[in-house]
Amino acid sequence: MPTLNWGGKNLEIDSINADDLKTKNFCLLEFNHTPIIDKYDFDEKPIIKSRELSISKKDYRDDWCNLLFWGDNLSVMIYLLKAYSNSLDLIYIDPPFATGNNFNYKILIGERSGSEISEAYSDVWSGGIDTYISFIYDRLKLMKALLSERGSIYLHLDWHISHYIKVIMDEIFGKENFRNEIIWAYPAASAKTRRFFIRSYDAILFYSKSDNYIFNDDPEIYMEFSNRVKDNLKKDEHGTFYYRGGSHDGKKLSQKVYLQEDGIFPRDVWNDIPYIRANTLEYQGFSTQKPERLLKRIILASSNQGDIVADFFCGTGTTLSVAEKLNRRWIGSDMMATSINITKKRIFNIYSSNDLYSWNKRYKSLPKPFNLITFNGKMEDFTIPNNLLKQDLGYELRIKNSEPRFTFNVECQEQLVNIHLLNYIMPKLELISDRIIKNVNTFSDWIDNWAVDYDYNEKYFNTSWISFRSYKKRTLKLISKPYYYEKKGEYIIAIKVGNIFGGEAIQSYKIIIE
Ligand SMILES: C[S@@+](CC[C@H](N)C(=O)[O-])C[C@H]1O[C@@H](n2cnc3c(N)ncnc32)[C@H](O)[C@@H]1O
Repeated sequence: MPTLNWGGKNLEIDSINADDLKTKNFCLLEFNHTPIIDKYDFDEKPIIKSRELSISKKDYRDDWCNLLFWGDNLSVMIYLLKAYSNSLDLIYIDPPFATGNNFNYKILIGERSGSEISEAYSDVWSGGIDTYISFIYDRLKLMKALLSERGSIYLHLDWHISHYIKVIMDEIFGKENFRNEIIWAYPAASAKTRRFFIRSYDAILFYSKSDNYIFNDDPEIYMEFSNRVKDNLKKDEHGTFYYRGGSHDGKKLSQKVYLQEDGIFPRDVWNDIPYIRANTLEYQGFSTQKPERLLKRIILASSNQGDIVADFFCGTGTTLSVAEKLNRRWIGSDMMATSINITKKRIFNIYSSNDLYSWNKRYKSLPKPFNLITFNGKMEDFTIPNNLLKQDLGYELRIKNSEPRFTFNVECQEQLVNIHLLNYIMPKLELISDRIIKNVNTFSDWIDNWAVDYDYNEKYFNTSWISFRSYKKRTLKLISKPYYYEKKGEYIIAIKVGNIFGGEAIQSYKIIIE
């Protein structure tokens, strides 16, 4: 079988050794076990929690916690191999496409609706196509090792690179395990060229690990009838499609013939899913965000409830959010702090997101627990993109955010405690562009989210309460919900504040409850 060769092809990645595993030292950073979310706090009572929390959600395995990793996915996957080789049932990835561009997201300041555009991640490959192919090849090999025997992988690409990667996928997964090249066709918004035909689709390569793979004929994945078909159908009073057929007396077809389904079993050209729009609930202000409808079809077709679905380039967390709503277990990763922050808030905010079965309704369930894990258990550094700095430095500014950056007040009345956030000092303010600074009226405009752990164990943050700004709901509470300490004693309260660039600062406070 023909294979592809390129500069730097690494045939050795199969032999990941124990030393590699030891150096990939990931630790728990945050334990998000049903925290109280200010936006959905239906209960007037103070928070009362004990450390031994129990998972009570039905259809949920209590030996499992969903996982979100902040870090390069190569290290994440090497780390996961220890416990999850041959275990993931579905992997969807939407990696950079080797476009040669930088991608953007919108930074919102305070309660303002206007936004600043910031660079999200770079898809420029200095070593050209060889570097890109090496990057993806190494990772695809690890994904194969993580997939279960019944598992599948969907690799989202476009015309820039998909033809090279098809050859690589055949090499890694076996030509016989190629299932589809799905064409996701969408109208091209601002296509101005008259020099060639307008490019208006992405290609999704679908492979399974073996011949015995999960694939469900679920009516929820069906495509709507095309307008041409619909024009020839009628709907009865219950909304069911039929056409006139049956016996024919030479004049007119008389019997109503009902269709069994509301649509057709999907072909490999998907033209029924629009590109993400800014006026939708799911929009997160991230230029390469993919629609939930796309992931709904993939996840329903290629996994079952309780299966593990992974996305190692999770971006805004579309795959994880859909997996959560479809009651799958999930693992996600991204190397950008901003993506992790958007994903985390999107999962917290899932209560008010679209219900996947009844699009105009809200999902209305709180998220299941998830762990946020990162290299050495720290997420203190952050970067300010070059285009938001006062002077063009030509590179992003990396900031160590470890010193205390905020002040707060702890109010304690017997066993009832709450925290008031009083101030936040933005690090390296002198370097930030005036464009941003002029839109900041008060300290809280720098803040994107803040959270409290009322019983901090000094190892990882256990979110008890959180307030955050979402893309659509910009308000932030500055006083936390009161916490009631059931037992007297000494406790450490930890407070974590996240700024609009994704940087986090944490401080703790010792309290004695008498
Ligand atoms: C096209 S976006 C994914 C968008 C996502 N499908 C969504 O719907 O929001 C690609 C993401 O991959 C991330 N990424 C790129 N290289 C990575 C790496 N080596 N490890 C982890 N994440 C990476 C980028 O930070 C970016 O968020």
